[in-house]
Parts: sequence; C-alpha cells; structure tokens
Amino acid sequence: MPNKPVIFVTRNLPEAVTQRLTASYEARLNPGDAVLSAEQVLKGAEGADALLVTPTDKLTAELIGKLPASVRMIATFSVGYEHIDIAAAKARGLPVSNTPDVLTDATADIALLLMLGAARRAYEGERAVREATWKSWSTTYMLGTHMTGKRLGIFGMGRIGQAVAKRARAFDMQIHYYNRRRLPEHLEHGAVYHPSADEMLPYCDFLSINAPGGPETYHWLNAARIARLPDHAIVVNTARGGLVDDTALIAALRSGKLFAAGLDVFEGEPALNPEYRTLSNAFLLPHLGSATIETRNAMGFKALDNLDAFFQGRELPDRVV
Ligand code: DGY
Repeated sequence: MPNKPVIFVTRNLPEAVTQRLTASYEARLNPGDAVLSAEQVLKGAEGADALLVTPTDKLTAELIGKLPASVRMIATFSVGYEHIDIAAAKARGLPVSNTPDVLTDATADIALLLMLGAARRAYEGERAVREATWKSWSTTYMLGTHMTGKRLGIFGMGRIGQAVAKRARAFDMQIHYYNRRRLPEHLEHGAVYHPSADEMLPYCDFLSINAPGGPETYHWLNAARIARLPDHAIVVNTARGGLVDDTALIAALRSGKLFAAGLDVFEGEPALNPEYRTLSNAFLLPHLGSATIETRNAMGFKALDNLDAFFQGRELPDRVV
C-alpha cells in the first residue's frame, strides 16, 4: 500500500512487534540496533510521519527543533520519558505517547530481586560458587540480613511503587512511603504515608526508589539523605540512575553506613561509575526492569496502539503531551 504512514524506528524491536508494525506501516528499521547519534536520528526522520524511539534516544529541545515538518508524532517504547524534551515537543505541537502499566509487574519483580540479592549477598555467593572459593558450610559464612518483617520505604508510590509494596507485604514488611500525593486509603493497604521524603528516611531498613527521573529528582539520594537512613540500610533503584548521587552512594557502601545496594539503573548507563564494579555489596543488573518477553511485546504493542490511534484520528490512549 503506497499510502502507509512512514515510521522511523530508532532501535530493534521484538519480532512480534516488528511484524505488527510492518503490517500497518512503512517501517524504517534499525536491525543492527546501534544506539543512534542525534545526526542519525535526524537523518532517519527525513520524510517520516512518526518516530518510535526508546530511552537511549536523547530527544533534546535542539533535536526536536530540527525534526522535519513531516514528523507529526513521537511514540516512546518506555514508560519513562525524561529522554524527550516534553516542553519542546509541546511547543512544536508534537504529541508524545509512552507505555505505562504493562511493565509494572516486571519492574516490581526486579525490585524484589534486587532487595533479596542485596540483602542475601547473592553476587558474592554466586561468585564463590563459580570461582570455587566456597570451602564449606559454616555457621558464620556469608551472612546476609533478613528481609522479612523489616521496614520498606518507597520513594514514589505510583503504579510500580504500589506493585513493589504488594510484593513486600508477602514478606511481612511494614511499608512506608512518600509520594507527591497521598494515596486513597483503600490503595494504601496499611502503608504509612510520610508527607516529606526526608522524614520517611529514618524508617527505611530498605529504601526502594520508584520515582520518575528528570531535573526534579536529579541526585535526590545524596549524602545528606543517606545519612538519614538507619545504619546498615539497603537501597534499591529500578527507576532512573540520575536519582542517585553515585559518589555519595559508593562512599556509603564502602564505609559500611549502608549494608548493600541493588541497582538496575545508572546515571550515564551503560557507562556506570566504575567503582560500583569493585564493590562486593553492590548487586548490579543492566537495566532489566522490563526485560521479559511478555512485557517487551506488550510495550511494543502499546506503542503501536498509540500510533494507530494517531493515524486513525483517535485520542492517544497514553498521551504524555
Ligand atoms: C521504561 O520503560 O522507562 C523502562 O525504564 C524501560 O525498562
């Protein structure tokens, strides 16, 4: 069909998503899956009707300003959209959609994996088995810390924060949370609301970061806030690396102020602060929060649902702007 809208897709997509995309659109794909420079994005966008982007594409105000007039919509394959200058998109009248809800469970699962991995020293244990340094069972060998019954503080009680809380309740954890708005009581399930995040920190044996990235939360977890955590607390981050001041977190992991950290996201990823690699009490994953086949297909289909709505003249189901 000659009149199919042209979609420029910046990264490789799961096969099922590519199949649906190519059935409805003229797709410009990136089968090599290289992360594209701003110049490459602009080149690929020439004559395209819409862009399907991911968090690895930095759509700055400058880049958005240079997009060809043919581009009428941006769909991101992610729930987070701090990689897109939303004000610039709005100023240009470019609608932007994201992929909420469908990655909530997968991301909350990874938060629990990080909590357990950090608390029970999973990285050190795995390494000991693989490197054959494990000598024998002993009453004091590689002791971790209990998760059951501890206090979990959640910074950002949106969909993912609530899903983390739900899972943590199965470990009899007491949930504390900070959110810009208090949840209605029926969604709190007994969680203790703190109107200020700083006031919550002393109650966090575990702290899970689940707030969006961007300038408002940049380096939110800094040295002063870490100092407010109980000694030997555990920090996990499945949100965005930029929420954490890496220098402060690394210092606290080295000094023993914190027992451990579990991190799935990093400022500047994949080029994380190299000191993390040297810390045995850091349990590290390469941004796998939404990385299940089911979830990545669902994210792709959601991005396509939004593109379909746009090109059929319907309201976008997941409009960010
Ligand atoms: C998102 O969708 O924002 C996630 O970080 C991708 O896993």
